[in-house]
Amino acid sequence: QQNIYFSRHGESEFNVIGRIGGDAPLSPRGRVYAHALANHLRTLNLPALQVWTSTLKRTKATAANIHAPQQHLSELDEVFSGDCESLTYEELQERFPRELALRDRDKLKYRYPQGESYVDVMQRLVPILTQLESENNVLTISHQAVLRCVLGYYLEIPAEEIPYVHVPLHTIIKVSLKGYKYTMETVKMPI
Ligand code: F6P
Repeated sequence: QQNIYFSRHGESEFNVIGRIGGDAPLSPRGRVYAHALANHLRTLNLPALQVWTSTLKRTKATAANIHAPQQHLSELDEVFSGDCESLTYEELQERFPRELALRDRDKLKYRYPQGESYVDVMQRLVPILTQLESENNVLTISHQAVLRCVLGYYLEIPAEEIPYVHVPLHTIIKVSLKGYKYTMETVKMPI
């Protein structure tokens, strides 16, 4: 059986104030998760564990206490919201109401001005998903939109539903290949 693990980064300072994108550090709660995650992995004692993160501060900080080889991959960065980076959804509504309406109409294909869409994210994830096929015990620490796409792929979720998949913070997701089917289990850290 092949097992691969996924987690969003711990809560960031931007999560607390509802800003999208950016490169904010972890919040105090997010740092607690980084410790809880490392402790949990220590108890699992997975042979030849590797950690892959995005290139953003919040995923690197989430991985910082884990004793395992680490790689930082830009393919795992959060969906880039271009001109809308670091805004709250309220600010988006005030400054870019048309963009938000277009996004509501087709969240899967909607591309932020100078930024990316979910479809763009799926495309840049292809090499990572291909590489993961031959890996075992890799923990990927990434972001909400990216992990929606990853879970959508493994669990064969219809494309239009992928931008709405629930991927909670502070939760470790284990994806296992049993025969030809991927199954998912989650462990929520009590934070
Ligand atoms: O709010 C956290 C976050 O990861 C943002 O950085 C990102 O833009 C957003 O989630 C993606 O979620 P949605 O596509 O629902 O806006």
